[in-house]
Amino acid sequence: MRPNLILLGAPGSGKGTQANRLVSEFGYKHLSTGDLLRAEIAKESDLGQRVKGVLDRGDLVDDNMVLELLKVNCDLENASHIFDGFPRNNEQARMLDEVVLGDSTALAIYFELDLGVLKDRLVNRRTCKDCGVIYNLLFNAPKTEGVCDSCGGTNLEHRKDDNEETVSNRLQVFKDQVEPILAHYEAKGTLRRVDASQKPGEVFTEVEAVLGN
Ligand code: AP5
Ligand code: MG
Repeated sequence: MRPNLILLGAPGSGKGTQANRLVSEFGYKHLSTGDLLRAEIAKESDLGQRVKGVLDRGDLVDDNMVLELLKVNCDLENASHIFDGFPRNNEQARMLDEVVLGDSTALAIYFELDLGVLKDRLVNRRTCKDCGVIYNLLFNAPKTEGVCDSCGGTNLEHRKDDNEETVSNRLQVFKDQVEPILAHYEAKGTLRRVDASQKPGEVFTEVEAVLGN
């Protein structure tokens, strides 16, 4: 099996975009804690109702709540996983190692770029609710406005936390937490860095190089 991957990077750095491609080309199972939390909010579960305000503000959800959600969606015996959006702090990095991965190996890939470009990426993002393809109205718009190129669906979602005010808070939360997480994987010798300021295809080429392809 391929190594599990931990995608680290700021909001809008391209974790979801690259994960979608890794799934279609290499069969990874994609676990985005943000997607899992949004699904709980959409189905108005107890958890969803408790976390909705936190996501709307762009703050972090309680570590143990996210860990439980991650654990029930993990199937490490049968597939290599992409962890997208987890860990978000040092405690979650420890939980991922000890509670989730155990003896399974994982490489951490840091999507590195200047945070100044991210507001444009985020406020112009649209995501197909039917098949998950991620667009950007400035850099990668669907060919027909409001229609997914891939599945023809017409539910192109503008995420509620992709407004200027929440994006500013999300970027600040990221800046406050990222260094210890990078240090954690640096110390283990499993940290790899890619230049996420390039076009999506070029970023993917670097990711493939990390995988040894
Ligand atoms: P989450 O859903 O994880 O959001 P995020 O980390 O803020 O990351 P994004 O999904 O916004 O960005 P991305 O890197 O996936 O970028 P994408 O590929 O879509 O988390 C949301 C919230 O959930 C958090 O704020 C928190 O409240 C909660 N949460 C989640 N996990 C948690 C945890 N572990 N603990 C506690 N709370 C948690 O791309 C973005 C845009 O850029 C798109 O428009 C795309 O088309 C475009 N784009 C992508 N690549 C490129 C490129 N190379 N060039 C130009 N444009 C590009
Ligand atoms: Mg994402």
